[in-house]
Amino acid sequence: MVKSSDNTDARALTRERLAGTDVAIEFTRPEAAVSNLERLIELGIPTVTGTTGWTGALPRITALVEARKGALLHAANFSAGVHLFLRAARELARNFSGRPEFVASIREEHHAAKLDAPSGTALLLQHQLGASDASRSFPIASVRAGTLPGTHTLTYDGPHETVSLSHVARDREAFAAGALTAAEWLPGKTGVFTFEHLLFGEKA
Ligand SMILES: NC(=O)c1ccc[n+]([C@@H]2O[C@H](COP(=O)([O-])OP(=O)(O)OC[C@H]3O[C@@H](n4cnc5c(N)ncnc54)[C@H](OP(=O)(O)O)[C@@H]3O)[C@@H](O)[C@H]2O)c1
Repeated sequence: MVKSSDNTDARALTRERLAGTDVAIEFTRPEAAVSNLERLIELGIPTVTGTTGWTGALPRITALVEARKGALLHAANFSAGVHLFLRAARELARNFSGRPEFVASIREEHHAAKLDAPSGTALLLQHQLGASDASRSFPIASVRAGTLPGTHTLTYDGPHETVSLSHVARDREAFAAGALTAAEWLPGKTGVFTFEHLLFGEKA
């Protein structure tokens, strides 16, 4: 077992320790993820990461994966339900495009201990909505309190009516199951993938 205190700059992820590893699953903290990913890719280990808050470094990590002919699957959310929600949200955005009387917004809620805000899923939703309807912005409001279940809601508020679409994660089993499915899927592949590649065989 590797504790965070033993793994500054991924120093515990040695070739010897990881010999014979078929695949790595990396769910840590934003400040640790990039060095962990660099080390795992340099060691040629297919890696699944669910850590959020580090994707500013994705271009650098992608270049490393390509240079090493490695394999990385990253996802801000490993639940199949969220990805179906994202598809429905993109469809909603296309339908509301050209209706400026509706104001769009994203609200995300999580437990008080969640470190990053907005959530990686909210940022992904915002990015995908922007690609579906460039004519408006999709501001995010974040709430961190108590033990709130992870919730993402897209709302279109018009002068006389409101339309909203929500996903609520009732427990964390869906994330664990998705990460394990990804860990079985990734070995033998080359490149950078998202959970949508696994679920739908395509990118968003
Ligand atoms: N993609 C998804 O579906 C999904 C779902 C849930 C969570 N997440 C994300 O996954 C990450 C972890 O979430 P969490 O709720 O499990 O966080 P958490 O409760 O803070 O746990 C983080 C774990 O990572 C370990 N860790 C931290 N830095 C490390 C390092 N440098 N080397 C090795 N281990 C290290 C910690 O070990 P110590 O106890 O030794 O410090 C701890 O066990 C967050 O970024 C969260 O947003 C993603």
